[in-house]
Amino acid sequence: MKALVLAGGSGTRLRPFSYSMPKQLIPIANTPVLEYVVRNILDLGVNEIGVIVNSRDNEIQQVLGDGSRFGARLTYIRQEDPLGLAHTVAIARDFLGDDDFVMFLGDNMLPDGISGIADDFAAGRPAAHIVVRKVPDPRAFGVAELGPDREVLRLVEKPQRPRSDLALIGVYFFTAAIHEAIASITPSARGELEITDAIQWLVTRGADVRASEYEGYWKDTGKVADVLECNARILDGLRPCVDGTADNTSVLVGPVIVEEGARIVRSRIEGPAIIGAGTVVEDSHIGPHTSVGRGCAVVNSRLTHSIVLDGASVTGVQGLHSSLVGRSATVGITTQSTDRYRLVIGDHTQVEVAA
Ligand code: G1P
Repeated sequence: MKALVLAGGSGTRLRPFSYSMPKQLIPIANTPVLEYVVRNILDLGVNEIGVIVNSRDNEIQQVLGDGSRFGARLTYIRQEDPLGLAHTVAIARDFLGDDDFVMFLGDNMLPDGISGIADDFAAGRPAAHIVVRKVPDPRAFGVAELGPDREVLRLVEKPQRPRSDLALIGVYFFTAAIHEAIASITPSARGELEITDAIQWLVTRGADVRASEYEGYWKDTGKVADVLECNARILDGLRPCVDGTADNTSVLVGPVIVEEGARIVRSRIEGPAIIGAGTVVEDSHIGPHTSVGRGCAVVNSRLTHSIVLDGASVTGVQGLHSSLVGRSATVGITTQSTDRYRLVIGDHTQVEVAA
């Protein structure tokens, strides 16, 4: 069995972050989403992994390298244009050969693992095995209708009027039967070769297509609110560990990770929280549910339920909540005036100030 991880796409819902970094590298508890995905796959005993990348492959290769750090063998496969999930399988054909494979969307977090689903697939080896989950509004997803034995009866990509509440989540298992299906479909209205259509092609021709309903935690990290929620969830499960230093006037409460070289001075860190390597926190109150990246400075500030990316600084800001601060961004107070804000913000940035 091989794996195909999708780390291309444009990430429009995650602007402005996706302007400067692949969305799959957004850190959750200071670890890129893509790294969780690779670990999920390795947990299945699968180590030959194809990674679909676009023109921003450099940064992804810097993070994952050749995979040897994880015990994986990574093959990077370039998708020049975002032509769909099924298109990625087509361009990975040489890598995949006729092997069974698991396809995993690189922005989906399933921290409870996927070994139960891999077992379901291995038990019957259907042509395709999808993973579904009940969601309140399925219109943003592929939607499945299932029969009594979890056989797939019908699949529709992002239907206006969904006929079930079962959304496809970003993990699929396939045999080589999927390749003929992909060769037979045409692009959808959004101009993409949809994997949903390819699987439906198999269903229409009477192939065995099954589904497992996923019971664990799942989050598509495509939007900022989902990134923050997922971050809180992962932080909840972390074991405390202090490799950096905290002076004797600082207080660390609950599960707190202070990475190597980080310094906590006259501050309170309320877990679950993580403070990245080399970061300095002074006269501040951080957490709960907050991740501060590497090489950051947080001074005289109060942050809760937030993520601060590497190299950013937050100074003099009391009450930053549900915020995502980008790499090397600075958030501070003005010394010019007490009744004005000064903002230098990028495209598609979102700012909310007190009324
Ligand atoms: C893709 C799939 C969709 C699936 C979703 C899961 O959508 O096309 O069927 O439900 O991933 O995250 P996209 O994120 O490309 O809009």
